[in-house]
Amino acid sequence: MNKPTLFQPGDGYQAWLQYRQMSPGERYNEYASYSHIIVTEHDDIMRSAVFELSQGIKGILGHPLNIADDPEMTSCIVLGTFGSNSLLDKVFHSSVSAAVGTEGYVMKSDSVTSRIVIGAVSSAGVLYGVFHLLRLLSTGSPVDALDIVENPVNKLRMVNQWDNIDGSVERGYAGKSIFYHKNQITTNLERVRDYARLLSSSGLNAISINNVNVHEFETKLMTQEYLADVAKLADIFRAYGIKLFLSVNYASPIEIGGLTTADPLDVAVRAWWRVKAEEVYAAIPDFGGFLVKADSENRPGPFTYGRDHADGANMLAEALEPYGGVVIWRCFVYNCKQDWRDRTTDRARAAYDHFRPLDGRFMNNVILQVKNGPIDFQVREPVSPLLGAMEHTNQMIEFQLTQEYTGQQRHVCYLVPQWKEILNFETYIKGGGSTVKRIVDGSLHGNAYSGFAAVSNIGTDANWTGHLLAQANLYGYGRLSWNPELSSEDIAEEWIRLTFGSNEQLVHTITNILMDSWRIYESYTAPLGVGFMVNPDHHYGPNVDGYEYSMWGTYHFADCHGIGVDRTQLSGTGYTGQYAGANVDTYESLESCPDELLLFFHHVPYTHVLHSGKTVIQHIYDTHFAGAEQASQLKSAWRLLEVLMDDQLHQQVAVRLEEQAEHAMEWRDRINTYFYRKSGIADQEGRGIY
Ligand code: GCU
Repeated sequence: MNKPTLFQPGDGYQAWLQYRQMSPGERYNEYASYSHIIVTEHDDIMRSAVFELSQGIKGILGHPLNIADDPEMTSCIVLGTFGSNSLLDKVFHSSVSAAVGTEGYVMKSDSVTSRIVIGAVSSAGVLYGVFHLLRLLSTGSPVDALDIVENPVNKLRMVNQWDNIDGSVERGYAGKSIFYHKNQITTNLERVRDYARLLSSSGLNAISINNVNVHEFETKLMTQEYLADVAKLADIFRAYGIKLFLSVNYASPIEIGGLTTADPLDVAVRAWWRVKAEEVYAAIPDFGGFLVKADSENRPGPFTYGRDHADGANMLAEALEPYGGVVIWRCFVYNCKQDWRDRTTDRARAAYDHFRPLDGRFMNNVILQVKNGPIDFQVREPVSPLLGAMEHTNQMIEFQLTQEYTGQQRHVCYLVPQWKEILNFETYIKGGGSTVKRIVDGSLHGNAYSGFAAVSNIGTDANWTGHLLAQANLYGYGRLSWNPELSSEDIAEEWIRLTFGSNEQLVHTITNILMDSWRIYESYTAPLGVGFMVNPDHHYGPNVDGYEYSMWGTYHFADCHGIGVDRTQLSGTGYTGQYAGANVDTYESLESCPDELLLFFHHVPYTHVLHSGKTVIQHIYDTHFAGAEQASQLKSAWRLLEVLMDDQLHQQVAVRLEEQAEHAMEWRDRINTYFYRKSGIADQEGRGIY
């Protein structure tokens, strides 16, 4: 059994919950004027709220607050749900409390009595409010005139662990699983609790704890063999307002149920799932539900029985419905055994082609989880046309925090700007204003369920994410799922102040590093939205033809004349026709297609002139030289911070930036050389190409 690991200051373990002690000064006195935490409720989540607030303030001020239950006290921080104590009701009139939803909160300071009062409908709301207050205190913000009402914009704010029970993590770049070890659930529950704290403090409220590829042992997580231990994990997450979900194997009735079929219309199969749901809810009464990858990349699914995805999802939804559970059904369904010679099959089309015809057939407690792009978390792809295209179906978006295709946490790539672009994308599905964020918050179609999911990026590494700067993706994801209007810069800055402190030069430099990082990564890897060009299987490092003659459907079609995938309706796969409104023409026409997606939608000669005025080939050379150069500058920028931060933290990132700079040159030279040899066109600047 794995033993709890001890972590040291400076290893990054505390992440954004560092709570550095502030130096005495004006604001110190302001904060120190609060001497008590007042709380009259004692459920698990409220206990977490009090624990977090005490720990946080102890760190910041260097001494703890007293805990009391007399709401009439002054100079204190009062926590509670509406109606729980007289003071809360005095401070928050019904007009204020009416503006607060289930997980929202209000926070108000009263300078006369020197009180800060946090009120909410639920204890979870109070906990989110506490984390908000701690953010303010740790960034040295004024707290004497607070008047805040906050509600999360998205209902489901979830992380998906791709953890296997043997302790490995699929596409994990930060060590092993914190949940499993040698086919058992971990006994290091302290670490799990600390993860729950990180998730909750960034605003998240749901987690699926095992890989969507559910293998033999994970299939048994919902059996008596494991359920008691799963319930212990659920207890930990529950105390932080987080619901637990399991990824399930569609073929479970056969694999663990002794049935001969998993046909969703078979009476015995349906009954089996109902009994299974009953068992799971007996162990975990507030269990979230099932996450399902079916008929995808060789996983079993309803297609085997000539049924469709609505049949499969509804069977599970019916079993979960009596308990308020939901089925999250992934739309990552495509032909992964394609013949590369076949130009008519287009993987980008697949999700829409499979699911769109099923609109209206899914039960109300089914949510379709759609990857942000039509292919697979590339550094650049268009927004999936399936998002919003099913007016009568609940949908949520799936992002990838783990940097499978964006540098595997060895390169810095702050993804919040990418997610913001996606969320702000105008789909035109119901005319102007039909942005992706309005689809995933459920407001465009008035959905019962909707939200955000993302593949987690953490593991047993002391700093959670391998690359310390990758913590900003986990933090930023949580913050953005709570409020998609927050800016990438503000999130970055907040994370930096919480993690490294508030030295202005430090904040400025790291903000720039983060804000530039996605573009830099894009510029030295696959060009103009064409995607992939990575080594097969592990997906790290350049290999232009790595997937060109494979069965996975991710091709660039480069030859001596040109490159790109013709996805037009006129002469290509017709994929552009899956978009709505003006987007169809924008992508269909070579003239209006945005440069950064050109090769995703069109096959063009290397001499094609972009909107930027450059030819495609010169763009490839220029961006790759510039990208590698910028990667090297990140290293020098970071070096200047050495005197401004903890040595160990500094060193962790310095080592990674060193590797990135080296590796960016490898990318530059491989890509440039490949295209120089293919096209025979020299670089106008005469730089070194091999
Ligand atoms: C990608 C990834 C797989 C993963 C799959 C999924 O293809 O490489 O490891 O299982 O996505 O999202 O299901």
